[in-house]
Amino acid sequence: MFSANTYQIRRARLKKDLKSGLLLLLGNNEIGMNYAGNTYHFRQDSNFLYFFGIDKPGLAAVIDIDNDREVIFGDDLSMEDIVWMGAMPGMKALAEQVGVREVLPSRRLSSFLRKAKKSGSAVHFLPPYRHDNMLILKDLLHIPVAKLKGSASEVFIRAVVAQRSSKSAEEIAEMERAVDITGAMHVAAMKDAREGQVEAQLAGMVEGMAVAGGGNLSYPVILSVNGQILHNHFHGNILKKGQMVLGDFGAETAMHYAGDITRTFPVAGKFTTKQRDIYEIVLDAEINAIAALRPGTTYKDVHMAAARRMAEGLKALGLMHGDLDEAVALGAHALFFPHGLGHMIGLDVHDMEDLGEQFVGYSDKVTRSTQFGTAYLRLARELEPGFVLTVEPGIYFIPQLIDQWRRKKMFENFINYPALKKYRDFGGIRIEDNVLITEKGHRVLGAPIPKRVEEVEALRR
Ligand code: GLY
Ligand code: MN
Ligand code: MN
Repeated sequence: MFSANTYQIRRARLKKDLKSGLLLLLGNNEIGMNYAGNTYHFRQDSNFLYFFGIDKPGLAAVIDIDNDREVIFGDDLSMEDIVWMGAMPGMKALAEQVGVREVLPSRRLSSFLRKAKKSGSAVHFLPPYRHDNMLILKDLLHIPVAKLKGSASEVFIRAVVAQRSSKSAEEIAEMERAVDITGAMHVAAMKDAREGQVEAQLAGMVEGMAVAGGGNLSYPVILSVNGQILHNHFHGNILKKGQMVLGDFGAETAMHYAGDITRTFPVAGKFTTKQRDIYEIVLDAEINAIAALRPGTTYKDVHMAAARRMAEGLKALGLMHGDLDEAVALGAHALFFPHGLGHMIGLDVHDMEDLGEQFVGYSDKVTRSTQFGTAYLRLARELEPGFVLTVEPGIYFIPQLIDQWRRKKMFENFINYPALKKYRDFGGIRIEDNVLITEKGHRVLGAPIPKRVEEVEALRR
């Protein structure tokens, strides 16, 4: 937890931005995996963490701007809870840690909101993403579940996004810790991978390291010899020489700040020439995209420049041809690079995705493309100091997509389909780092994690 002052300042800014009304924030609850008492690992809601800091289930909080009150709704543990789960500070003491003086029992929330509504206060809430909280909101506010997302408060969303987008020095320090734990996980995977191992052995090892780091995974491990499947959570393949392993995984710290790193390495001690050629194209695109990061630049331009650079590399290898400006403008590169260059990262790996990408990654000046590939870009807007984002170009050979495009004769003037035959079982390569936008440029977070061919091969030896 940060100091009480941090949370007080954040809430004060919210009040200043919203000016009036009542802001309702629901924390998360325990959720049963296969029965109610056998719960998933508890993860607090990130907006609740940001403004109220308390990392416990079953809480809600209200900022009543009209009556200048901040109230946390929650219950002290019963003796039965203490017997099974151990003692913990009472609600009053927990609230004090985040600078809140008023605590009320959970059952009082409903009447509190009723009174506020009666007195004419607008109740602002954020879009719910968990079904239990949807049901709680439905009962509290008498809004049908299907209408809850649409009834969330846009001014509240915008005010939260404005604050959370710009990371403070203490948040950046926490994010460096997340990247450092994540970096150690990647180095361990690169060192330990052996021909004959099952992917799950590596996936389990890195998950253990995330937990040992004091927190948890920031998202389910992606680790596969089938790197062309972008979010592949299957870990049953056996590593074979000649294949590459794509590992996309990260830790979140005990305070829930996320790391999100990808590395791709050969199962053998060295990349083959074919693998190395594609790897160097992706690495060059990643390094150049990072170099272009500074305030005022739009991330859409950085994304398009990375696409263009990778298209040039693919043309040099004979896999693309023709006018590349035209090819990239029309989206032909998306056969190989069908996702966005990156996203904001912070308390969430895709930071604030619950609040809506249109508010987080886009602006009045930069709107979302509808073109296959570019449409998946989560962050496109102008960059500002304090933003932390991922840079994650990749090149993939997805047999089903290649076959579909070839059958439809798509972009034949830009794509050399006969040459692609030799790449059907290539897999995919992605390289991802986490970068802070500074006043003058950028800084890659954490200690460097090996990514040059010679560095990766040195670890594999
Ligand atoms: N780890 C998911 C992503 O890179 O967006
Ligand atoms: Mn990732
Ligand atoms: Mn990412």
